[in-house]
Amino acid sequence: TSEELLYRPNYHFTPQKGWMNDPNGMFYLNGTYHLFYQYTPFQNTPDFSKMHWGHAISKDLIQWQELSPAIAYDEKGAIFSGSAVVDKDNTSGFGDGKNIPLVAIFTYHDMKKEQAGEIDAQSQAIAYSLDNGKTWTKYSNNPVLKNPGIKDFRDPKVFWDEKRSQWVMGVAAKDRQHFYGSKNLKDWTFLSEFGKNVGGHGGVWECPDLFPIKVEGTSEEKWVLIVNINPGGPNGGSAAQYFVGDFDGKTFTMDSLFTKQLEKEKVAWLDWGRDNYASVSFNNVPDNKRVIIGWMSNWDYSPDVPTEKWRGSSTIPREVSLKRSKDGYTLINVPVSQLKNCEAKTVRKEISLVYDKKLISKGEIDLSKAVIDVDFKKMTKGIYAFALKNSLGEQVIFGIDNNKQELFIDRTKSGKTDFKNNFADRISKAPLAKNYQNATFKIVLDKTSIEIFFNSGEKVLTEIFFPNENFSELTLSTDTKGSILSLNAHQLNIK
Ligand code: FRU
Repeated sequence: TSEELLYRPNYHFTPQKGWMNDPNGMFYLNGTYHLFYQYTPFQNTPDFSKMHWGHAISKDLIQWQELSPAIAYDEKGAIFSGSAVVDKDNTSGFGDGKNIPLVAIFTYHDMKKEQAGEIDAQSQAIAYSLDNGKTWTKYSNNPVLKNPGIKDFRDPKVFWDEKRSQWVMGVAAKDRQHFYGSKNLKDWTFLSEFGKNVGGHGGVWECPDLFPIKVEGTSEEKWVLIVNINPGGPNGGSAAQYFVGDFDGKTFTMDSLFTKQLEKEKVAWLDWGRDNYASVSFNNVPDNKRVIIGWMSNWDYSPDVPTEKWRGSSTIPREVSLKRSKDGYTLINVPVSQLKNCEAKTVRKEISLVYDKKLISKGEIDLSKAVIDVDFKKMTKGIYAFALKNSLGEQVIFGIDNNKQELFIDRTKSGKTDFKNNFADRISKAPLAKNYQNATFKIVLDKTSIEIFFNSGEKVLTEIFFPNENFSELTLSTDTKGSILSLNAHQLNIK
């Protein structure tokens, strides 16, 4: 259909039909990455009383194959967000001696209770699979963690805490983070609370994720806690923040350098664009890699975006690493290395910048599946503004403002924008600590999305758009002279 041609992403995951939001329960096992997601199969808007976990698999994190929905709602409630673990030692007892049990931990959302105004509509429950995640059996004694009297109590993310030989569950509790521990995934004990007076509190906390990670270039380990928040994002609506600290098996404590950093920055944002929400990581990825994926939308307008058959797509999976400088920590995000394997032809250019330059002309590279690497040298004060354009005069403008010291992305003239008044009512911005003489941009493009990785993933901006014709040109305007730009535009060869 024309909708498919215009808007179905070339390589970002979308379900064939229906509504999708958060990624759920991601793990790797035997050569396959599994992605589950919040899914309403029978309509293109969320039905919070009938949420399922949809299911897709991939060998390379780039090309996905959709399978049938994995877990369906039942009389106890809708299946809200959560995680899944590979229970190698069969601590749960769900194993049959032959197959390793996979255990999914999710939130039951009981719509009847919610509508009756009862506070305990959300509780945590489990299901297991003995066939590589294809079919799931719900535990007969669900829920395994009852509601403690907090209305927003959801999105359990469970991991194996090696040092303490325990399962740890992080769960969002209003605008706090709660931790629970367990030996068998069935009996849970409260460990601690985190989040009072730190980070963003402009909305409820959702979809948390705690994991250990090495500080780049050292052998030191830190713990990163990702907490999604809605609303209250840096440019409005849904977004993801993170904290850096230590975890002793009970309590997450912020690192002292990170504490100082937050006094200045207030919130550490994972992504400054408007469309990266519910970002959490895969369990069990080989080589200790930490890979995250998000829902490429925002609760501000997600049910209104102009696609009919399906709604919602995922971000490109990203590998994260932790960098420390004297000013603080940065959670670096870059597209997973598998994306590079899809690069087919490359166009290279070296350009001395004066005012307006066409970087990519129509037909040179298909900008609906491309990665553009740009390397600036000798930048001065001034604005460097890229524009993705089509023949209708629609455009997405983005780049760096070296006067105001910020990155920006402007989709106000990007095509269909009036489906919701808060979709294109502002220019998204990300502050920079200084102005730059040298800087790089990795720009990941699909039909309806841009993901900008500034300076090798130091700052990221992800946004979606809906032009009336796919963008086919890339230009750069600047009000300065004399900078040098090298461009490597890679066509992606996908499907
Ligand atoms: C986040 C969220 C979660 C919840 C799910 C419901 O986008 O609100 O907190 O579990 O979506 O679909």
